[in-house]
Amino acid sequence: MDRLKGKYALITGGTSGIGLETAREFLAEGASVAITGRSRERLDEAARQLDGPLLTLVSDAGDVPGQSALAARLQAEWPRLDIVMSNAADTTHLPIEEWTEEAFDRLLAVNLKAPFFLVKALLPLFSRQSSVILVGSVSAFIGHENATVYGAAKAGLLSYARGLTHELKGRGVRVNGLSPGPTVTNAFKALGEERQAAVYEELRRTVPLHRLGSATEMAKAAVYLASDESAYTAGTVLRVDGGIGELAY
Ligand SMILES: NC(=O)c1ccc[n+]([C@@H]2O[C@H](COP(=O)([O-])OP(=O)(O)OC[C@H]3O[C@@H](n4cnc5c(N)ncnc54)[C@H](OP(=O)(O)O)[C@@H]3O)[C@@H](O)[C@H]2O)c1
Repeated sequence: MDRLKGKYALITGGTSGIGLETAREFLAEGASVAITGRSRERLDEAARQLDGPLLTLVSDAGDVPGQSALAARLQAEWPRLDIVMSNAADTTHLPIEEWTEEAFDRLLAVNLKAPFFLVKALLPLFSRQSSVILVGSVSAFIGHENATVYGAAKAGLLSYARGLTHELKGRGVRVNGLSPGPTVTNAFKALGEERQAAVYEELRRTVPLHRLGSATEMAKAAVYLASDESAYTAGTVLRVDGGIGELAY
């Protein structure tokens, strides 16, 4: 219950799915937690589902100047920061014909550009035993339907784990990726009920472990990466994907 006792943790995109469940696990393990999201309403709804020392901050994960504002807000509230989970993402999947430059730039801003500037803005707050968790995706490793741009952005994000660990190791900051496979969350809702059911069915067939993951399973992996139990784990990616990133089914 005390694996994160006394630690301060920021989770971007904490109103639903993996971010919300990670907030729940971090709080249960004794951390103080801040979650972000784009709307006050959804943050308040998330807060009603969580128990413990929680900050809810409206912040768009794709807004570069907004990352400095978020860091300033945390600096005003907390003595330091020990854990950052960059989890918010633009999950747009489209065929090549439908991509506009605007949509491409937006996805890259949320999934790749702004997370870098978030880490930069947070540098003065990091404790000497900090863990940054970058939520990637199996789409960084395998090609699949309509995922070219999303997968490229996630591959770039996960590569930060190597570059940033190298750059920040002297400050005591470890950076690792967490790469979920198909996980039951609201992310699939945009597909509509019928298509979602068909996708779930196909995934049950093709994921080597023959099921989707749960947000709680991702959150438990995040606790490991966030805690000092993973103190010797740096610059790598933890795949929690039912084997789909590595194995034939
Ligand atoms: N579910 C999967 O199968 C799967 C697989 C691989 C990787 N992932 C990755 O896991 C992470 C979490 O996804 P999820 O499945 O948990 O999705 P989700 O249930 O849809 O949750 C997404 C969260 O991100 C927030 N968000 C989205 N855009 C944002 C923005 N611009 N600024 C701030 N917050 C934003 C949402 O908050 P608001 O809407 O309230 O702003 C929400 O809290 C993402 O990085 C995703 O790429 C998911």
